[in-house]
Amino acid sequence: MSSEMSAAVKSGLDGVVAAATMLSSVDGEAGELIIGGYPLEEVAGRATFEETIHLLWYGALPTTAQLRDIKGVLAANRSLPEATFVLIQAAAARKIPAMDALRMALDSLSLELHEADTNDRMTPPFGLIARIPTIIASYARAVAGAEAVAPDPELGEAANYLYMLHGERADDEHVRALDTYLNTVVDHGLNASTFTARVIASTGSDVVSALVGALGALKGPLHGGAPGPALDMVFEIGTPERAEPVIRAKLERGERLMGFGHRVYKVRDPRADVLAAAATRLLARGAADATLYDLVHHVEQTALRLLEEYKPGRRLQTNVEFYTALVLHSIGLETELFTPTFAMSRAAGWIAHYFEQQSTGRLVRPQSIYTGPRDRQWVPVEER
Ligand code: ACO
Repeated sequence: MSSEMSAAVKSGLDGVVAAATMLSSVDGEAGELIIGGYPLEEVAGRATFEETIHLLWYGALPTTAQLRDIKGVLAANRSLPEATFVLIQAAAARKIPAMDALRMALDSLSLELHEADTNDRMTPPFGLIARIPTIIASYARAVAGAEAVAPDPELGEAANYLYMLHGERADDEHVRALDTYLNTVVDHGLNASTFTARVIASTGSDVVSALVGALGALKGPLHGGAPGPALDMVFEIGTPERAEPVIRAKLERGERLMGFGHRVYKVRDPRADVLAAAATRLLARGAADATLYDLVHHVEQTALRLLEEYKPGRRLQTNVEFYTALVLHSIGLETELFTPTFAMSRAAGWIAHYFEQQSTGRLVRPQSIYTGPRDRQWVPVEER
């Protein structure tokens, strides 16, 4: 490829503006995230997840009556089609990765949520958001050889998720920490999975297809797959004095440190601050492991120092995934469930973007530069 050609190709689409959105704003230099008009710090620790869904889907936080309605609709739509349940059991028997099980099960929700079958365009979105936690919890329990726990309509989204996972009602502090986490990662500008959802929406396709595609994009380790490996690194380090040698060895081998660096944030990711505060709150109320908390802080400081030494000027800072690992682990989630739980939240953002993109009526269709050969001549198969 000539240098002129390669200059014209934006292979990672860096800096390309492909959508106008009212949903969230990410300022990577100021370290600022706005969700539906609110600075993240203003809402994340205060709202329930249901309130944040309402904010994104309807443009405002709900009134008391609206909140009662949205909670009622979600609570009433949590049960899974029988075929989805059977699929989950088959996936669990093979112990396939939880994100793959979620993707397959999510797709099967078309059995009940086909757009052609409903006059209300909000039926599929509510049905999807309500059922994703049931899929994840049923799968986790099936893999562990435990019976699925039926959803409890008395509980909100976060409390019910923890209840279906663990089979008992969760500590209020854990529910609050989970609400904070779900609010923190619900939307984030035109990230890879959201872009995927918008591309699918732009073709006029259905919302289940958009979510399945977005989920596939989220799964990769460069996007939503990092918090598990971030916690694995902390456990591998084990004690503060091992932080420096272990991290140095990884950087010497050219490995990336999971939970650090971001395409947009060149200062500290504000979501890391919100989640670090949630972890501190859990610790102060005796609902988190103090030794792990101290180790995580030490690993973070060591990693930032060594990243500056090995990658000077790249401005690699802590991203959301690092503290996600601490918060989700503290509320009793297995590492395998970190990315599915991220998806449970981000699905609300994907749906909001799906509708926003559809309202533009514009097909997303960029261009490519052809770099292959030209003027080849047909040769019959027996002569090749
Ligand atoms: N550890 C070590 N080095 C890193 C890291 C890291 N975590 N991140 C970037 N670098 C280095 C690269 O090796 C590269 O070095 P070079 O200039 O010597 O070649 C330089 O920093 C720039 O890296 P790019 O790949 O150009 O940066 P990009 O913007 O594409 O990367 C990304 C962003 C993918 C998130 C990257 O920082 C990364 O891989 N981080 C680890 C995975 C992770 O935490 N992902 C979660 C992101 S948050 C989210 O999606 C919700």
